[in-house]
Amino acid sequence: MADPDKAMDEAGLANPSVREYVRYWAELTGADRVEVVSAADDARLIDEALAAGELEPAGEGRYYSRSYHKDTARSEERTIVATNDPKDKGVYNNWRPASEMRPLLESKMRGALVGKTMYVVPYLMAPPGNVLAPWAAGVELTDTRTVVLHMIRMARVGSEFVNDLEDPDSFVRAVHVTGELESLGHGTPDDQRYFVTVADERTILHFGSSYGGNALLGKIAHGLRQGAYDGWDSRKYLAEQYMLIGIHDKETGETYHICGGFPSASGKTNLAMMLPPDALGDRYHVSFYGDDIAWLWVDEESGRLYGMNPEYGVFGVAKDTNEITNPTALKSIDEGTGTIFTNVAYNPQTQEVWWEGRTPQPPADVTGWLDWMGSPIADREPGDDSPWAHPNSRFTTTLDNVPNIAPDYNAASGVPIDAIIFGGRTRDREPLIRAIDDLAEGVYDGLTLGAEATFAAEGVDGQLRYDPMSNRPFMAYGEGDYARHYLDVVGAAKEQPIFAHVNWFQRDPEDGHFLWPGYRENLRPLLWLIQLKKGEVTGRKTPVGIIPTKEELLLDGVEITPEDLDTILSIDVDRWRQEIGFREEHLAQFERMPEEIWEAHRRVAAALEAEAQ
Ligand code: GDP
Ligand code: PGA
Ligand code: MN
Ligand code: MN
Repeated sequence: MADPDKAMDEAGLANPSVREYVRYWAELTGADRVEVVSAADDARLIDEALAAGELEPAGEGRYYSRSYHKDTARSEERTIVATNDPKDKGVYNNWRPASEMRPLLESKMRGALVGKTMYVVPYLMAPPGNVLAPWAAGVELTDTRTVVLHMIRMARVGSEFVNDLEDPDSFVRAVHVTGELESLGHGTPDDQRYFVTVADERTILHFGSSYGGNALLGKIAHGLRQGAYDGWDSRKYLAEQYMLIGIHDKETGETYHICGGFPSASGKTNLAMMLPPDALGDRYHVSFYGDDIAWLWVDEESGRLYGMNPEYGVFGVAKDTNEITNPTALKSIDEGTGTIFTNVAYNPQTQEVWWEGRTPQPPADVTGWLDWMGSPIADREPGDDSPWAHPNSRFTTTLDNVPNIAPDYNAASGVPIDAIIFGGRTRDREPLIRAIDDLAEGVYDGLTLGAEATFAAEGVDGQLRYDPMSNRPFMAYGEGDYARHYLDVVGAAKEQPIFAHVNWFQRDPEDGHFLWPGYRENLRPLLWLIQLKKGEVTGRKTPVGIIPTKEELLLDGVEITPEDLDTILSIDVDRWRQEIGFREEHLAQFERMPEEIWEAHRRVAAALEAEAQ
């Protein structure tokens, strides 16, 4: 049996409530050893993981890992938000009673760590000193060393983050047990995996996965689900799946901050790491604050909406990352240190990694190359063109490694928000950008975000589905209450941010090519949005928002045909009228949807009908 007190004494973990929690779970899981971790333990843990074969070397200071082949994405179906109040049941949160879930998860975890180490990972999901820091402390307990290594990259980790809490009890209890992955019945009716946030008890219990999106409890479960619930419960803030960037105009000296939600694997990380197009690079610089989560609140002093990134690292999609699409990501990997790759293709002889889109063709000499499941490429049947890397393979690196990290990313204050954008993979209908300058219409637009599903979650790829504010997998309470809270938080700001819907993914119906070149060029519609907010351009009014004219969009150097440009800057009124019907059904599922949202819906519908006359 472990001696948790000895381990906590040695690590200086002093918070009495945390100590009681650690003792409780050490006993329940039967852990042989307890180890309290801080960021300073990284090098030792890396060495241990290499020695144990959990990591393999992938060049100087870089590491390769593989997850169980059925455990490669977030599982939305197995994810549950539990509370003690049935009123918290929404459409997407898979609500269950806390009284049912807690005993179930405890029974699965009982004795699960016999013979194993329980790692204690104290963390903070906020820049130290931020106004939301009181909701940001947590302690993850995990049985998996690679999860600890990922947590050290993705969150601020150490006992100091939980020792001096004003209320010693105000930390999130986050327990992670991987379990025996081969025997969990992945995807069968007898699936044993449960990813539960008991939101009103500030307890997270995840059983059955070591994949980042299910196992890094600070990031996903606390940063998004628990954060969303706490933000609502306290009436103080929003926790959203948003990237957050600064656009600096070197000519005027001004910096604008834009945050926004796109579903997983739809471009947040790429946008945050954006290098301006060559033609605009002399004037503009884009800085990275966050690429997956933003917490938003109204700053008391200025009365403005503020945002910060609670994370400390990047958990990025590898696919299609290359010198042209995302040179910043490659620099973070190559010039930074400590990157961990997961489920990419790997060559143990040369210590190289590869993924689809890294180079136009895979390495010509396949000697030594293994696909993401560890099978030699050389042994493949002729004609087998299955991907070498998993489509949801990832790289994990700390913010310090990101070349365009904002100089003030760690500032306690956060940054004022000028614009909120929504987007996703939508192959038709959605133009390049449409701006919305009304709060209720902006929130309505976010709630009706429809996009294609991606490989970042288990299930169908490519199917269009509604994903409100890109938060569908992270909804913690009812959608109507969520809309009310969103209107209240943003509505309390003295200066309203402008909203916009963007789409980098419209395709040609015939040959499927992307109409807009995307990536670096995405700065152009964002600059237009800022100009619109400042009154420097007027755009063209449509029933679904304001669209840039060709002249207003700075297009020098963009490779696009006039026909494609026309398509992405126009509205197909009949397609939109059809969409209004779908939206009506979508919104009608939710209880207590605020009247402002329905009014916005009816305004947009009426404007479309008028346009069709
Ligand atoms: P995130 O999961 O929302 O952070 O999305 P990422 O930024 O990691 O991008 C997911 C995938 O979409 C990657 O394969 C990117 O290469 C691709 N992607 C990102 N931005 C664009 C874009 O503007 N155009 C196109 N065609 N693909 C993009
Ligand atoms: P992503 O982040 O949105 O960048 O893919 C991880 C996730 O949401 O699982
Ligand atoms: Mn995400
Ligand atoms: Mn991302």
